[in-house]
Amino acid sequence: MARIPEHIIESIRDRLSIAEVVGTHVQLKRAGRSLKGLCPFHTEKTPSFTVNEERGTFKCFGCGKGGNAFTFLMEMEGRSFPEAAEMLAKRAGIDLPRVEESESEKEHRREREVHIEILDLAKRYYRHQFTEGRAGEEAREYARARGIEEEAAETFSLGCAPKGWDNLARFLASKGYDLAIAERAGMLLPRKNGGYYDRFRDRLIFPIADSMGRTVSFGGRVMGDDTPKYLNGPETEVFHKGRVLYGLLQGTEALRKSGRALMVEGYMDVVILHQRGVSGCLATLGTALTREHVEAIRRRADEAVLIYDGDNAGRKAMERSLEIFLSAGFPCRAVALPDGEDPDSFVGAGGDLNTLIDKAPPLFELTVDMIAARNDMKSVGGRLRAVDEVIPFLRSVGDELGKNEYMKRGAELLGVDENLLRKKVAEKKQTRFGSAQEESEPVVQKVDFDRQQLELVRRLIHEPDKRSRFITEGAQKWIDDETLRGAAKFIASCTESVKSFPIESAPENMRDFLAGLLMENTPGDYDELVGMLEKRRLSKMSADLVGRMKMAEERGDTEELVRLAEEKKRIDGELKGT
Ligand code: UTP
Ligand code: MN
Repeated sequence: MARIPEHIIESIRDRLSIAEVVGTHVQLKRAGRSLKGLCPFHTEKTPSFTVNEERGTFKCFGCGKGGNAFTFLMEMEGRSFPEAAEMLAKRAGIDLPRVEESESEKEHRREREVHIEILDLAKRYYRHQFTEGRAGEEAREYARARGIEEEAAETFSLGCAPKGWDNLARFLASKGYDLAIAERAGMLLPRKNGGYYDRFRDRLIFPIADSMGRTVSFGGRVMGDDTPKYLNGPETEVFHKGRVLYGLLQGTEALRKSGRALMVEGYMDVVILHQRGVSGCLATLGTALTREHVEAIRRRADEAVLIYDGDNAGRKAMERSLEIFLSAGFPCRAVALPDGEDPDSFVGAGGDLNTLIDKAPPLFELTVDMIAARNDMKSVGGRLRAVDEVIPFLRSVGDELGKNEYMKRGAELLGVDENLLRKKVAEKKQTRFGSAQEESEPVVQKVDFDRQQLELVRRLIHEPDKRSRFITEGAQKWIDDETLRGAAKFIASCTESVKSFPIESAPENMRDFLAGLLMENTPGDYDELVGMLEKRRLSKMSADLVGRMKMAEERGDTEELVRLAEEKKRIDGELKGT
């Protein structure tokens, strides 16, 4: 990655108009001191997407997305940071000193370009095999037998990998490609005695695209009963299973129009449903749904509807997804398909999927119903077991208002007392972001934090001169929450002014949160806050000591008791001084 000097980034930020950058994607209207428009990251009818020109930031008060010009391009157009920087530099009329790129960085960038080229070429190669001549005969026949028509095959660029060990390897070599790169791109595997062979052989090929339409990997299905049924490309620099959704490219339009993402399990389901006019279908690639998937959906739709297979695996996957949706605070409904059916077979047998989708209950309700159905709700033991099964879901709910609603509904559906349910849910400390997190970092949300501690962090971002104090005073001690502490440390390490705060160099999951802090400069006094937080910290220590003294007393450990008492005296003394 090209390293761009800090001062250049600064001057880009200073000269750039965020309104102009955002303006190419969003129609902005002036509203008081800021600009407003319809959020490009989620579907909405009234504008809650706000641009603050002075600070160079944007923030959507609907979906929470926020950032600056750099992160806007990164999110909106799928650019890398150097790419975004280059585009913005051009707009701002600033020359990027390319010489800064080291040899190894240059090499890395070149490999990435070749990697993507190889995948694109492979896609066209497989497609050609499928549409032309003898090699594709069996695949065309198989597709026909599965009910895939030409138009859908074209839309999804379905292809086929021919029989034989090294067709693609030889093709790539004939085009002059470095096969070692093709191996790292996941297309070839090394032979024991040197040379390479094709990963995908004699399979129907489903190219996987990212939201920008770049081919990032492939799925390949056997055309008979061999195993494994599907082969997927390995994780690479451009392919992350925890992020990619199959069908996003073809479904984007439908998603935006209907505001709803239909989540299915398989490649085949996406293709067949699209063909049947049920479009906007997305599938994970045989992996569990992640928070990152949900965030990708949130940017394009208002709700998700799960249409998973009507078998145990499908129902398990549904329950696992529920925790992610609840902790993300994103609405999700679910269709319960009849036993043994998947979406493809259901519509194939003439089932009316659209009606099921329209009538689909919230995933939470369906899940609680399923839990109630598998426990004997007439017995006390059965009811308790059902409650225990529902509790983790309630604990994973991200926001307080939502939790309240789910608590009511859960108690109703299970036929148990709401207050008792609340007590049980509160018993163990709730894990903030739910327990079903996979791979992706949870997105930082301010609702989760202590108000005064959050206020302190807000002061820190708006008053750069307090940042060095924050570090020298070891102010982390005033912040209990690890995530908030991380954000504070990041802010404290920045020397930039409010106006050119480097949101883009923050960890990705922190950016929306930082943009929010930058936009809302509520009055507050840093020193006063520090005073209050210090007082709280000391009182808490003092209270802890009382508890420990009690325990020492019970144990009869006088020595410890005396030591603790002295410590408490010291802390109480400090407390008086605050
Ligand atoms: P399914 O077995 O439900 O496949 O697996 P499907 O898409 O309905 O395909 P058909 O109808 O049998 O042809 C669902 C998804 O799980 C992943 C694939 O992404 C598949 O689409 N999977 C399945 C694998 O990765 N490997 C496998 O061996 C099987
Ligand atoms: Mn199937």
